[in-house]
Amino acid sequence: MIKRTATASLSMLALTLSPVWAAANNADAKGGTPTFHRDVLPVLQQNCQVCHRPGGANLGGMVAPMSFTSYDEVRPWAKSIARQVDARLMPPWHASPDQHGIFANERTLSDEEVALLVSWAKAGAPAGDAADAPPPREWPSHDGWSIGTPDLVIDMGERYFVEDDVEDQYITFTTSITKEMLPEPRWLKAVEFRPGSPVVHHIIARPLGGIAPGNDPTVYNDGFGTLIEPGMEVSWQMHYHKEPGPGTGTWDFSQAALRFYPPGYTPEHVVMNDGLGRFDFKIPPGDPHYTSTTSTTFERDTLLLGYTPHMHLRGKSARYVAKYPDGSEEVLLEVPRYDFNWQTHYEYPAPGKKIPAGTTLELTMGWDNSPENPNNPDPTAEVTYGRPTTAEMMFGFVSYADAEPGYQPSPDQMGVNGRRRGGREQIDPEEMKQMLKERFGLDWDTMSEEEREEVLQRLRGRRGAAGG
Ligand code: HEC
Repeated sequence: MIKRTATASLSMLALTLSPVWAAANNADAKGGTPTFHRDVLPVLQQNCQVCHRPGGANLGGMVAPMSFTSYDEVRPWAKSIARQVDARLMPPWHASPDQHGIFANERTLSDEEVALLVSWAKAGAPAGDAADAPPPREWPSHDGWSIGTPDLVIDMGERYFVEDDVEDQYITFTTSITKEMLPEPRWLKAVEFRPGSPVVHHIIARPLGGIAPGNDPTVYNDGFGTLIEPGMEVSWQMHYHKEPGPGTGTWDFSQAALRFYPPGYTPEHVVMNDGLGRFDFKIPPGDPHYTSTTSTTFERDTLLLGYTPHMHLRGKSARYVAKYPDGSEEVLLEVPRYDFNWQTHYEYPAPGKKIPAGTTLELTMGWDNSPENPNNPDPTAEVTYGRPTTAEMMFGFVSYADAEPGYQPSPDQMGVNGRRRGGREQIDPEEMKQMLKERFGLDWDTMSEEEREEVLQRLRGRRGAAGG
């Protein structure tokens, strides 16, 4: 009896673990035991070292805590690597496998690569012959900027001390790109943010975009860009987050590197950004799967360039669906296991995904407010829109361009800062005032112009592809 039970559970195990473990055994049979130098290192070079190396990618404060460039560095992590890749937690990528092969910046391993790493770890992580190793992968070092040597580095204007007692602080610094820094208008090719301290949770620097944990730098495909003009103001909306306490105060001085197209070059497509979302959701206490849906319709043929779904700690799933004028539908992006720590931007290869005029883009987001969500700060709370990470947000950022080469979006399409206006339900001002009062305890009538502007911007979600 005992034996039969054991057999049953073993075969169950085999079932759940296939096909990766089956493939792992297969790899054993075919090429013998994989070794670090011959088999494992090439996979790490290709898929992991972009982050796991000294000076590896700093994605909005997400820095890989260990380096995987030599046997000595990797050996202690063998089991952990096997677990992480088998569970598909590393490399970090959160789109559904249904969208495999669609996004340009996809980070996934093939089943064979997972099997290889797993069977190597199972075999005791053998080094093998160092002569089999590929040459070390060279990484460009443009003074630490991954977008290449910048044409212009700008900063938030002053050093700022985040005090000991701060847990969450929002503060805006306004700087400008002067004529000395930029004598003539130039088209932006790439922008990369460098948080000036570990307490930076996110930066929204309109009109350049921003950075949140897990974001890659923005590099536009050739032919796509945003115009940067001398005298342009940049507002650095900083969100600092840390444990409060004596000695935890720290200085911040965050920067951004800009790379431009050559002088005189005008890209064919102006990049626009929009944030689909709602502010009226109310997530009941304990609800394991609450969803909210909104949509926008594109009036012209459009090239979709990428998406960044943004929720907070209870965020569970995100789904972007195109509803075409002929009645057909297509799931553009499905994120089944949203992870607040990785604010991934899902980016199409050039020239983007073309959709015809009249296409509706529908966004559905889901939250888990149950005690089963390990990130849930309080399952007994009814949760509404708000800035702290303990409240929730619903933003489906979309970047896109008009499909017609040379088309100049009207100021109305672009908005004041290169962000699109409209395209979403308008909010009645009186209703909005009441909502602000009820939800956030804000009194519109006594607020300063600056505060109003900030609230409006947040409500419109007009904050570039990288939200916070
Ligand atoms: C985009 C950057 C990035 C890439 C690519 C990446 N990692 Fe990571 N990795 C991280 C960061 C950041 C952490 C620490 C935070 C975390 O655990 O989420 C981490 C943590 C880990 C850990 C430790 C997990 C733990 O806490 O025990 C392992 C093991 C790991 N990565 C393996 C890999 C392997 C193997 C690859 C390639 C197949 C890979 N990573 C690719 C960024 C990356």
